[in-house]
Amino acid sequence: MNFKGRDFISIRDYTREEIEYIFKIAMKLEAMSKNNLNLLRGKILASLFFEPSTRTRLSFEAAMLRLGGSVIGFSEPKVASIAKGETLSDTIKVVENYADIIVLRHPLEGAARLAAEIAKIPIINAGSGALFHPTQALLDLYTIKREKGRIDGLTIALVGDLKYGRTVHSLAYALSYYDVNLLLVAPPILRMRKEIINDLVELGVKVKECSSLDEVIKVADVIYITRIQKERFPDISEYERVKGSYKLTLELLNECKPDLIILHPLPRVNELDTRIDDTPFAKYFKQTWYGLIIRMALLALILGAIA
Ligand code: NCD
Repeated sequence: MNFKGRDFISIRDYTREEIEYIFKIAMKLEAMSKNNLNLLRGKILASLFFEPSTRTRLSFEAAMLRLGGSVIGFSEPKVASIAKGETLSDTIKVVENYADIIVLRHPLEGAARLAAEIAKIPIINAGSGALFHPTQALLDLYTIKREKGRIDGLTIALVGDLKYGRTVHSLAYALSYYDVNLLLVAPPILRMRKEIINDLVELGVKVKECSSLDEVIKVADVIYITRIQKERFPDISEYERVKGSYKLTLELLNECKPDLIILHPLPRVNELDTRIDDTPFAKYFKQTWYGLIIRMALLALILGAIA
């Protein structure tokens, strides 16, 4: 498979076969990751974060360091020349001289695609706008695969802010490569947009919209719950109306399948009961570990250290 030099902007840039190849490499790295890996010695990753992040940025940086590479970048656009009015395209044209690969997070939907058109080095999209977060989708799929042993045949409930959440959009498209039952659970004003649902149906996904967690708790194999994306609401009074409108509690789990797994891209606010953390259903912290491994595999493949 050939990943060398390729951008990764949308999950649909890669085929199912390519995604599964990344999983294969990730599994190999998982077995080796405590050793001193020097696959990317001499390579530099530029991490450009125009929006807040904990996991995505730190796991990309840790992945690069664990593979023996180095990291430059900023996590706070206020400290970079953007604060002086520099355009994204100028920033990219400069940084590509310093690094071998760029990981970019930006509030605008088209930012990563634009950067990829400009840059001569590969761009990985670490989240752009409300639609794209392809590396999160990869690690979500990988978590399901590792924890359930398969993806095909599962009933997966996406819960929460399905309108503004980019992780659920990327994950839904990623799941379209598999034979799954997708249950969408959202408050009425945060339902997944019709165009996206139509798209998924056209891609062959079995989609059902549900109005509450009670409706899915008995049948779900995977619950993927997300926070309300407060910062993406055009009108804050709309946010005030829905905040706190859903919560996965320990009590609800009395009725779930015994091998249910619960995922969350994190950060959580109040939609996921902390009392669930110590149950075997909770896989959201394990998910962050898989995120590190997946990002190691991706960097090694795109930078040509593994073919
Ligand atoms: C998500 C994001 O930035 O979209 N976080 C992440 O990358 N794990 C989810 C979120 O912010 O809610």
